[in-house]
Amino acid sequence: MTSLSNKPLLITCGLPYANGPCHIGHLRTYIPADIYVRCLKKLQQDPLFVCGSDTHGTPIVINAEQQGTTPAKLAAYYHRYWEDTFKALSVDFSHYGNTDAPTNHFRTQEIVKSLQANGCIYPRVIRLAYCPECDRSLPDRYVEGACFFCGMPARGDECDQGCGRHLEPGEIVDPTCKTCGASAEYREEQHYFFKLSAFKDFLLAYLESLGGTANARNYAREWVSNELKDWCITRNLGWGVTFPGTDLVVYVWVDAPIGYISFTEEATSAWEGYWKSDSNIIHFIGTDIIYHHAIFWPALLKGASYTLPAAIVASGMVKVDGKTFSKSRGYVVWVDEDYLDHGFHPDLLRFYLASYTSHTKELNFSWQVFGEKVNRELVGSLGNFIYRTLHFAYKNFGRVPEGPVDAEIMERVADTREKIVSALKEYEFKKVVDAAMSLSDFGNAYFQSKELWNLVKSDRTACARELKNCIQLVKALSVLLEPVMPSTMRGVQAQLGLTMTYFYDATVEVEPLRLPKPALPFAKIDEKKIGAMEAILNERIARADHKGPAKEPSTGEAIIKLDDFKKMDLRIARIVEAEPVQKSDKLLRITAQVGEETRQIVAGIAKDYAPEDLIGTDVVVLINLQPVKLMGVESRGMLLVAENDGQSVLIRPARKMPSGARIR
Ligand code: MSP
Ligand code: ZN
Repeated sequence: MTSLSNKPLLITCGLPYANGPCHIGHLRTYIPADIYVRCLKKLQQDPLFVCGSDTHGTPIVINAEQQGTTPAKLAAYYHRYWEDTFKALSVDFSHYGNTDAPTNHFRTQEIVKSLQANGCIYPRVIRLAYCPECDRSLPDRYVEGACFFCGMPARGDECDQGCGRHLEPGEIVDPTCKTCGASAEYREEQHYFFKLSAFKDFLLAYLESLGGTANARNYAREWVSNELKDWCITRNLGWGVTFPGTDLVVYVWVDAPIGYISFTEEATSAWEGYWKSDSNIIHFIGTDIIYHHAIFWPALLKGASYTLPAAIVASGMVKVDGKTFSKSRGYVVWVDEDYLDHGFHPDLLRFYLASYTSHTKELNFSWQVFGEKVNRELVGSLGNFIYRTLHFAYKNFGRVPEGPVDAEIMERVADTREKIVSALKEYEFKKVVDAAMSLSDFGNAYFQSKELWNLVKSDRTACARELKNCIQLVKALSVLLEPVMPSTMRGVQAQLGLTMTYFYDATVEVEPLRLPKPALPFAKIDEKKIGAMEAILNERIARADHKGPAKEPSTGEAIIKLDDFKKMDLRIARIVEAEPVQKSDKLLRITAQVGEETRQIVAGIAKDYAPEDLIGTDVVVLINLQPVKLMGVESRGMLLVAENDGQSVLIRPARKMPSGARIR
């Protein structure tokens, strides 16, 4: 890393689809990359950090159709959304573009033309799924069926439930139209193919020298040695970058990575220094898109004579309960709805995601672990050391004492800095944080062992000297951890009167200055709050459960048949008992009379209804929902509510009905 410092250095992140909101899984690309870039800047390097919205592809067209809007409007909406989200999370790109910008249309067509000129593209007539009902061809996500390779349910261009392979047009077995559900037929169309198979030897050699994390190299090497098929790079779709000289558009996985180039062009007129000369390009992505970045993309760049990426850093996937994130199945933690809107500070999430486990390992999201890490490490160790030091100094001296810092302390700091630098070389962000956290533990032990509170009475001069050591450690921690928790650590620096951006320079000492009354940098998270967050997640999974896996569209808004509706046994019920669920401020335990039967239902309406107001009232209950335990209490059924702006309103019959009456 530091050895490459003279070449132009470009860091990129996998582009978010401008098709939906941010979840915690996405952040495992963006937060470590942002930490990496901030660390490099502290090491006095000058990386360019680019990203942008991925606006094309079939999911966005389908989504726009369903929402009665245009893909352009939907993409523009989510483009702004992602920009705001990155700001809120302190993910600080040098430039954030979008793939529908003219620069990207131009650069994509230029690259396609040079691939054609270099003989890397050829036309071929292929059989493509076509829906006779909708009277249109069904590219990618418009079609669902079974994976040609493993037989699992698959959608369009990806076997997302089974073997994870990229699927070429025609590799879906028993295709059905996603929009209307009709069986698709196959029709012939002329398309264009990229000769990926011709790049086998090039790729094997390239992967040998590829930097970054080993998972990217290893997966890619395995795939390249086993099977390397040519890629169909055109689609019959009205949204995207036109394939020169046709009515077709290029496949989204062509123009999306080219965004890395066009965003660099938008950021600087010196873009050729990154993409046409010897440079250091580092892509941050998740393991789900290694194939596209370590195989397809380098071959494309090679074919068009552009500079190849020097490193690919691939994070393990974020999961919930060991399950891949899935909106339709409820296995998802949203960044706004489930985190920021509940008042959690973004820096806590940055800390948690960076330090939970090795960057290449899977990360099973857990509110419990989140709460424990915050309370034990941030509040108990780091926050405690910072606060007790600053508070002690403020109370007893009112200022930072003058005088030198002990060599032992300076060595500790320098040693921590070295550990961080070598962790960055391995792209191990957990080690970056761990190194700093052990300096914080050292600080606490130091403060404790010197018994400053006694020393101030017995020997004020000695106390000032030891306090100076502690303050130096606070300063070092605030600088070393600033890339991980920028706003909180800048707050600590401000308390110390430090306003400029400090480099990782262990020798700069804090000036003797007057100290303001210190504030606690972190607040403890209540157990109850964690329980409530868990309940929200469990409830979402339980609610989604009845939808069944696989065929459910990701937006959950597709047309269903009457038979699907009839599967739900909805009844009028009378509430006979209601009480809060212990340790939860969201859940109520409700006993409902449904005809002859009584049953217990746990409902997340405690914020909107007092238990005593519910007793004796009529509601609508889904009674054949799979039972589930919420906060340890069994729930057999679900109350229907309308939701708006975080408020829930119960659905009730407009006239008195006998309990047990059926809803159809
Ligand atoms: N648009 C493509 C990337 C094109 S890059 C030329 C895409 N978009 S995405 O919105 O699905 O993902 C954006 C980033 O988040 C990618 O780096 C992806 O790997 C990462 N992740 C999305 N979900 C993830 C998890 N559940 N876990 C970890 N990272 C994941 O892919
Ligand atoms: Zn498969």
